[in-house]
Amino acid sequence: MDRRWGFLIGLLSAVWLLLRSGHDEPRPPETAAQRCFCQVSGYLDDCTCDVETIDKFNNYRLFPRLQKLLESDYFRYYKVNLKRPCPFWKDISQCGRRDCAVKPCQSDEVPDGIKSASYKYSEEGNNLIEECEQAERLGAVDESLSEETQKAVLQWTKHDDSSDNFCEADDIQSPDAEYVDLLLNPERYTGYKGPDAWRIWNVIYEENCFKPQTIKRPLNPLASSQGKSEENTFYSWLEGLCVEKRAFYRLISGLHASINVHLSARYLLQDTWLEQIWGHNVTEFQQRFDGILTEGEGPRRLKNLYFLYLIELKALSKVVPFFERPDFQLFTGNKVQDADNKMLLLEILHEIKSFPLHFDENSFFAGDKKEANKLKEEFRLHFRNISRIMDCVGCFKCRLWGKLQTQGLGTALKILFSEKLIANMPESGPSYEFQLTRQEIVSLFNAFGRISTSVKELENFRNLLQNVR
Ligand SMILES: *[C@@H]1O[C@H](CO)[C@@H](O)[C@H](O)[C@H]1NC(C)=O
Ligand SMILES: *[C@@H]1O[C@H](CO)[C@@H](O)[C@H](O)[C@H]1NC(C)=O
Repeated sequence: MDRRWGFLIGLLSAVWLLLRSGHDEPRPPETAAQRCFCQVSGYLDDCTCDVETIDKFNNYRLFPRLQKLLESDYFRYYKVNLKRPCPFWKDISQCGRRDCAVKPCQSDEVPDGIKSASYKYSEEGNNLIEECEQAERLGAVDESLSEETQKAVLQWTKHDDSSDNFCEADDIQSPDAEYVDLLLNPERYTGYKGPDAWRIWNVIYEENCFKPQTIKRPLNPLASSQGKSEENTFYSWLEGLCVEKRAFYRLISGLHASINVHLSARYLLQDTWLEQIWGHNVTEFQQRFDGILTEGEGPRRLKNLYFLYLIELKALSKVVPFFERPDFQLFTGNKVQDADNKMLLLEILHEIKSFPLHFDENSFFAGDKKEANKLKEEFRLHFRNISRIMDCVGCFKCRLWGKLQTQGLGTALKILFSEKLIANMPESGPSYEFQLTRQEIVSLFNAFGRISTSVKELENFRNLLQNVR
């Protein structure tokens, strides 16, 4: 019954959109802040919550405590294999190659297409080399760990892996897998852009978002749309999907938006040999989210970001019993620290659980059992694929955060699909049915930390844009 109502409401809003699109009345001039945010307020689709409540809850209650937790040793070191080959294509951007990350691009690494006898002297050639060198330097991953840390991580115990993985297990046993310090490698502007970055997002949207053949419009919201009628077909198709499949598209779009908020908020504003200054670049933000500059897509992206936030929030609220068990530790070997961190973790989780505005329990991931299992399997396959695509990202820092965030979101989905197992978990003793590895825990909280940071940054951009026309 719920499904049918959802469908009907979807249909009605599509019709409403159609009607409205024909009658655009001239509006008074808006500020840039309004153009990005005016449609991002009030109630969100598929959910009984409003943006203002989320902002207040996140920015003042959750964000500060979460930041503190993520600075602890348990959460700052993430083991990742950045050397896995891309399974889908061979010609990864030359300038992202590992050996290239420590030394500048050689001229023979510049793609043939733009290389000509005189390219060295052409402006284009020079700009390209410069951009490539910059992308390399900014995209390199700092792998340094103190000796003390290296010793400590050797002691960290590994939990058993679960069979229910949404992500390709990142063979962390491989000799190529290394611990990285996430605090030393913040997610920010790297200069990684252009055709290579485009291809990644296109593949993610096109092949992995349940898109049927009949929809021709590119799903990548950054691609320009081909006329209004395609636009309407696309959105009514999206509305007609079951709530979970629609959610998949919106989660990916939300992740994309969050990454773009980060690069706009930590933009390399000044780069001299004396210093590097990182900060907010309002122009960059507007280009990605302004309602007019993006032909209406920007505010939708921001709504999807909130949607992603709520999905991860819901997963965290569901997994509380797992972390509450007395046997569970955030093990680093430092007993006092570990106990303090567990207390902080539980405090955060209880705060999340008390947040009243979650998704409608009955409509999400809760069809009849057979249907739910089928859906889970479809989700898992699509999602695993996306995690493998991350091995094709040319910029190492982007690959690091891409892998971490897909694993985090994959863990959130695993939790949402395991609701009953978690609810039936024994209060003490080992839990065989539901398990999370350290990697999954670290990625789950760090991924949520990124989205929480993005929501907080939206407030900063709202203020910065207040007086811009
Ligand atoms: C901000 O970003 C735009 C691109 O969106 C770029 O052209 C401009 O130089 C940036 N501003 C600064 C101060 O770096
Ligand atoms: C996985 O991604 C590849 C490359 O884009 C694509 O060809 C394949 O159809 C995808 N498989 C699934 C199950 O989505």
